[in-house]
This record gives sequence, C-alpha cells and structure tokens, in this order.
Amino acid sequence: MIILDGKKTSADIKEEIASEVKQIKARGERVPHLAAILVGTDGASMTYVNAKVKACDLVGFDSTLIDLPEATSEADLLKHIHDLNTNPEIDGFIVQLPLPKHIDEHKVLIAVDPDKDVDGFHPTNVGRMALDLPCFLPATPFGILELLERYNVETSGKNVVVMGRSHIVGRPMSILMSQKRPAGNATVTVVHSRTHNLEDITKGADIIVAAIGISEFLTGDMVKDGVVIVDVGITRVPDDSKKRGYRLAGDVDFESVSKKASHITPVPGGVGPMTIAMLLKNTLLARSSS
Ligand code: GUN
Repeated sequence: MIILDGKKTSADIKEEIASEVKQIKARGERVPHLAAILVGTDGASMTYVNAKVKACDLVGFDSTLIDLPEATSEADLLKHIHDLNTNPEIDGFIVQLPLPKHIDEHKVLIAVDPDKDVDGFHPTNVGRMALDLPCFLPATPFGILELLERYNVETSGKNVVVMGRSHIVGRPMSILMSQKRPAGNATVTVVHSRTHNLEDITKGADIIVAAIGISEFLTGDMVKDGVVIVDVGITRVPDDSKKRGYRLAGDVDFESVSKKASHITPVPGGVGPMTIAMLLKNTLLARSSS
C-alpha cells in the first residue's frame, strides 16, 4: 500500500515555486502577491487562511491578510473586493469560505476579477474549465490531479467515483477527471446524498475521491481490493484524549480502507497541503500573466 504523501509532494512543489521566485527577484521584478479575505472567526477557516499566509512567506511571495469581523456587511466586503481588484500590487486573492449567513456567497464570488481569481471560483473560470480553456483551476481538485500525476496513478479508462457534488471539490473534480488531460480520461460517476445502492457503485470504483464532509463514512466493506483512495474530508471530531479536545478525521475510515487500497491519502497530510501548494501555483501564474 502506497501513501499518497501530500505533505512531501506539496513541499516539493513549494520548493519549485520558491526557486522561480528567486529568478523573479534576480531579474529585479516584483514577487507574486496573494491577498486573503477572512470574515468572522470560524476556527477551521482561521487555520486554513493562516496556513496560506505562512506558505506565501515560505516561498517568498508577498501576502496580505484582510481579517474582517463577523458582522461585516455585504457592501463592505464588496468594497474590499473592489479595492483588491483595482490594486495593481495584488496578483491574486481569495475570499475564504464559508461566509457568514447574511452575505450572499454568489454575489461575492462574481465580484472577484476573474484574472485575480486564484481560487478558480468565478463563473468565468468555471466555464473556461468546463470548456478545456486556460483558466485558474480550483486548488483542491488541481492538487488532487497533481498528486495522482506525481505518483503515476493511471486514470485513463479507469472507473472513478467522486463522492460529493460541491462547487469547490466534487463538481470540478468530476469534470476534470473526465477531460483529456494528465490524470484525466476517466469514466466518472458522481454519487451524492440521493444516490441509490451507493455500495454497488463504490465497489466498482478503481479510484474514489471522497468529498462529502461526513467523517469516516467510507468503510473497507464498500471498496474493492486495489482501489486508489483520495480523501478530501477533514472534520473535527470531539476527542477528550487530545489536548485541543478534537481529532481530525477524513471521509474515509483509514483503518479498514487502507487494508484494501493500493494507494491512499492520509488525513491530515494528504489533500490539504496540496490545496495550499496549488493556490501558490495559481498565484505564480497570475503574476506571470499580469
Ligand atoms: N473553504 C474551503 N476550501 C476553500 C478553498 O479552497 N478556498 C476558499 N476560498 N475557501 C475554502
């Protein structure tokens, strides 16, 4: 069984990016600059955004964190987005999701300049992705493709089951893996909360991408021998034996599934670090096309 090590792979990618930053600096040019907007104090979101800012430092990017209170109005948030759109020093930016309930997420995402939308969430980038046109790919699916490619996991003609249909992971993942591309050319099935006979479908999968947000949902009896497992889930499960009061769990029951899998991503240390590496990659791309 091979661990698809996202921590190690993302470190390799960050090294590659850092060496490109060195070359940019050597040419006397401005280094890439990523901004992140965080609204509110959701614990997981704060952790993710801080990790993104730290990763910028590591590779030599400039970064700006715009930390707004929970009560920020939609109009105020849109004003911050406008400022970033028109600031020539900023190459790309993200608005961390989820947003507080009083803010319309769609309104916010369409306000981001598609050329600075390094999350790849703007309808222009989603449409371009679906049409195989150059665009910013959403970082988590992009990271999964990169991980599969770097570990030489064959996807062409394979039965891929994507569990979940979220705009951030499941939907783009299903589109990308069906396309003619590295880590693509797969026969893709999307399963979700209304799917009948789920186990029959997961048992037929050569590769499973689990992105439903239910901890340890996929168990060993639901998969076949030799399956490749990509676990996108990361849920805080209460655990009194831990100092912080919780442990991190994926959507996959690692204990039982890893006994059957040929390859599997751990949680943490699998998909999560890849997401951050690919956000940096998109920011570098935004800098080179500015
Ligand atoms: N929330 C969970 N994943 C993501 C992501 O990739 N980008 C943003 N902006 N918010 C998220």
